[in-house]
Amino acid sequence: MAQYFDNVDLVSNRRSIVIKIKNTVLNMITDNGVFSKSKLDFGTRLLLENLPLEEIHDSILDVGCGYGVIGIYLAKNISCQVDMCDVNRRALHLAKTNAKNNQVSVHVFESDGYQNVTSKYQTIITNPPIRAGKEVVYRILFGAKEHLVPGGNLFCVIHKDQGAKSTISALKESYNVTILEKSKGFFVIKCTSC
Ligand SMILES: C[S@@+](CC[C@H](N)C(=O)[O-])C[C@H]1O[C@@H](n2cnc3c(N)ncnc32)[C@H](O)[C@@H]1O
Repeated sequence: MAQYFDNVDLVSNRRSIVIKIKNTVLNMITDNGVFSKSKLDFGTRLLLENLPLEEIHDSILDVGCGYGVIGIYLAKNISCQVDMCDVNRRALHLAKTNAKNNQVSVHVFESDGYQNVTSKYQTIITNPPIRAGKEVVYRILFGAKEHLVPGGNLFCVIHKDQGAKSTISALKESYNVTILEKSKGFFVIKCTSC
């Protein structure tokens, strides 16, 4: 069955939405075939509202960027290099357009997980593609370790019905794990590379 992140030939139906996260207002274009096209996903909001921005500097990679809300929000609030990647070409195109429309400079590129990622980052952040399956999600969460500088952090959000508890247990074997927030079954997780 086709999923939203497949590059299927869906009829386009672009629309503009306004997203407010804390004091940041983003004007975003979304479309059919991208994640959470009508409004900001609750998990993404919880992740962004609970990020310790003061711990984020130098360089950020937003994995599974969709139409770009995470990377663009961070680029608006932190002065550092922001890279964003996804497998969904329509989402990548929107992310580039949204970055331009919101006056931020980011680097957006296509990558299945870390396949085309050649740098190391101080921060990797993701609302992972649960519907892509555990193998893909674990590849993104555990593969981050290879792309973080020493002491760098992975931030992610996962719902309890999407295996948050077992994922947190598994993450503890590879990272120092801190739960930053819990709400409506979502866990905002900080994983420090050790
Ligand atoms: C839950 S959505 C999050 C989108 C966006 N970051 C947000 O928070 O609104 C997960 C994203 O991961 C992307 N994705 C799916 N499989 C992927 C893969 N193998 N590598 C990278 N990104 C993938 C999807 O296309 C989708 O945009």
